[in-house]
Amino acid sequence: MRQTIGMICAHQPRHLLRIVPLLALILGASALGAALPGGGVVAAGVAPRTVEVLPITPCSEINKRKIIITRTSIGIQGAVTTLNYRTNQWAISVLDPMYRLSSSYRPTGLVAITWRGVLSPKGGYLLKREAADALNAMFTQAKVSKISLKILSAYRSYSTQVATFAKWVAQAGLQQARKYSAIPGHSEHQLGTTVDLGSINGVAWSNPRFPTSATALWLEANAYRFGFVRSYPAGSANIALSCYGAEAWHWRYVGKSLAYEIVCSAQVPRIFLWARQNGGDRVIGPACDSLTPPEGYVLPSPSVTPPASDVPSESPADSPSESPSASPTEPVASPS
Ligand code: DAL
Ligand code: ZN
Repeated sequence: MRQTIGMICAHQPRHLLRIVPLLALILGASALGAALPGGGVVAAGVAPRTVEVLPITPCSEINKRKIIITRTSIGIQGAVTTLNYRTNQWAISVLDPMYRLSSSYRPTGLVAITWRGVLSPKGGYLLKREAADALNAMFTQAKVSKISLKILSAYRSYSTQVATFAKWVAQAGLQQARKYSAIPGHSEHQLGTTVDLGSINGVAWSNPRFPTSATALWLEANAYRFGFVRSYPAGSANIALSCYGAEAWHWRYVGKSLAYEIVCSAQVPRIFLWARQNGGDRVIGPACDSLTPPEGYVLPSPSVTPPASDVPSESPADSPSESPSASPTEPVASPS
């Protein structure tokens, strides 16, 4: 019988994290089919277990590291190649200023999509097929709610990110740039699963009111149902955990089940994914009761990683413009 019970306390960066199936202990192994918040059940006969997850390096520590620029490369001191991205578990890969992709990595299965979210060879943006299909469905549903979304940025190759980051540095200086723009190799856009979204008729993404606009609020409430999560939430505590300033336009596709679990956990995606990459189970968070689990949602088994079917799997031209803003705090041209 498939089940999971896990509470992850991932906010104590200096200690080993103990992932303890507290609900299993509380309810007892005899609690056959006991309901969990978020629609899960506790299976009978599941032995309690503890998984220790080393804490992810704090952003405050990473951000002190030097950026090493040579004539041909740019990188961050001590950066590490992330796990999973070349496999069908790409959705759980942590990307931050420490964890990176290979500079030669180009995702498989990229398809063209228009700025209006229609899959078409004429589209100027590229995404992995799974992300493109999900985005198309989200655009359609948004329209029903009178929200007109548009793509501002999608897949960005390593070399596009070189240009993007350089532009930020030219506009705002190196230290400001790294708060809002990923050093090449470290961007979720290189995964081919991440988009920057704005509104066709509404408040511009660069406007300080964008985070409270109807478009941004609709995305906050609904994107998880299509498999997207916001990587860089607002608020100083979240910023300290995501390593980047708040970006209400930047959405990463992770698949419906994982998006549901991340939003349900109320954790910053970087923290959730780190725990998941390292064997953590589902996090039962404060938001679980108010969310709708995806159709056919099955609680993951208490294994190291979710089954491949729960996570979208591996898969042409580079996305056009990428440009963050004139000022990292108030971007103007196009997002980062
Ligand atoms: N703006 C995000 C951090 C990126 O450049 O991928
Ligand atoms: Zn982005």
